[in-house]
Amino acid sequence: MRAYHANRARTAALFELLEPAAYYEQPIALRHPPVFYDGHIPAFAVNCLLRKGLGSSGLDPELDLLFARGIDPHDGQAAAAAAIDVWPSRDTVRQYVRRADRAILDALETADVAGGANAVLRRAQGVHTLLEHEVMHQETLLYMCHRLDFVHKRRPADAAPVVGGLPPEPAMVGVPAGSATLGSTPELIPFGWDNEFPAQVVEVPAFEIDRHDVTNGDYLAFVEAGGYANRDLWTPGGWQRREAAGRMHPLFWERRGGKWTWRGMFESIPLPAAWPVYVTHDEAAAYTAWRGMRLPSEPEFHRAAYGAPDGIERPHPWGADEPDAARGNFDFRHWDPLPVGSCPAGASAWGVHDLVGNGWEWTSTVFDGFPGFEPMASYPEYSADFFDGDHYVVKGASPATGRGLIRRSFRNWFRPHYPYMYATFRCARDAR
Ligand code: AVJ
Ligand code: FE
Repeated sequence: MRAYHANRARTAALFELLEPAAYYEQPIALRHPPVFYDGHIPAFAVNCLLRKGLGSSGLDPELDLLFARGIDPHDGQAAAAAAIDVWPSRDTVRQYVRRADRAILDALETADVAGGANAVLRRAQGVHTLLEHEVMHQETLLYMCHRLDFVHKRRPADAAPVVGGLPPEPAMVGVPAGSATLGSTPELIPFGWDNEFPAQVVEVPAFEIDRHDVTNGDYLAFVEAGGYANRDLWTPGGWQRREAAGRMHPLFWERRGGKWTWRGMFESIPLPAAWPVYVTHDEAAAYTAWRGMRLPSEPEFHRAAYGAPDGIERPHPWGADEPDAARGNFDFRHWDPLPVGSCPAGASAWGVHDLVGNGWEWTSTVFDGFPGFEPMASYPEYSADFFDGDHYVVKGASPATGRGLIRRSFRNWFRPHYPYMYATFRCARDAR
């Protein structure tokens, strides 16, 4: 109950950032406008817990359905086909949200939501599912909000970006061969999504990885060296997607009066050289090729983040302590990134910084289930719908990732040309 209220309060605060007109603005063609997320978050809870878990008939057949599922089409054309022409009025949506909140809170208070024969309820799976689903869409809302014109947003008092100075000199860290545990077991965590099970132990050969994320400053050298015009650096698919989008630089960058600027949440500022660059998988892979390197795989991310010289894997890069502000830039404390290396207390045993926080980390691993994968009862489509070879695993966390999602086994995934995420990367190579 407390977690539900805390979630709702944060979502409400995010909607407060929007001027009323922005409610129906669609800044990302592949995502519905904010009005959808206002209804979707509680509708998902109704569908998942009340209908599937407790056998209720739902609240409102039309709105339960309208708000049931978002869109994830391949391109703008498919998005246009899936678009909704006329959304309900804000009053209608708000009324639906209030009814849904009351019904969910009533169920949390009075129903047996943590037991029974129904697999949706076992170990309170449905409750965890709806809570973490909301946290994920808080990030969706923020990166959508990022794309809105500044006039559509209300700038809070604490919005000043922390720009920092020059980025550190690039340096690589050697990680010796060893094993990494991907995923988890129900004995270890109260809840995990289906793609986190069953645990899988992988042997990882020795490799080297950047101590810091690639910064805007580092990436600028690639842009200025003509990286976006050099077909040899891109995969065939990556080149084709880059051309189709007409992309000549990262989405977060803008060219103004002959200078590069960063389009932040509330203002544009001169490009902060020390911030991690936010790019697509395609752009990240091209940069690593330019440097004669490659992206780390998901198992290598695990070794770099959670491995240690004593061979004992850690729950977090920094050890077993709870995630807090000193450990990384996550949980909505900043609207924008921080300079790389700003949270030394969050470094891994090998001295690799910012693996959890300050931007999701692209990996070279195509998203798939671990051997023995089974779809979860509360939301069987959650992962399986995306085992299509066209999504890559991202790990770690961004500034807009809630603390509840910070765990070793959590996996996120996006298409290789999805440019809106707060996602960065680092270079890796085999040990020599
Ligand atoms: C797991 C973050 C890729 O945002 O599309 C939300 C999560 N799934 N509602 C997404 C999700 C359904 C998903 N990601
Ligand atoms: Fe959703």
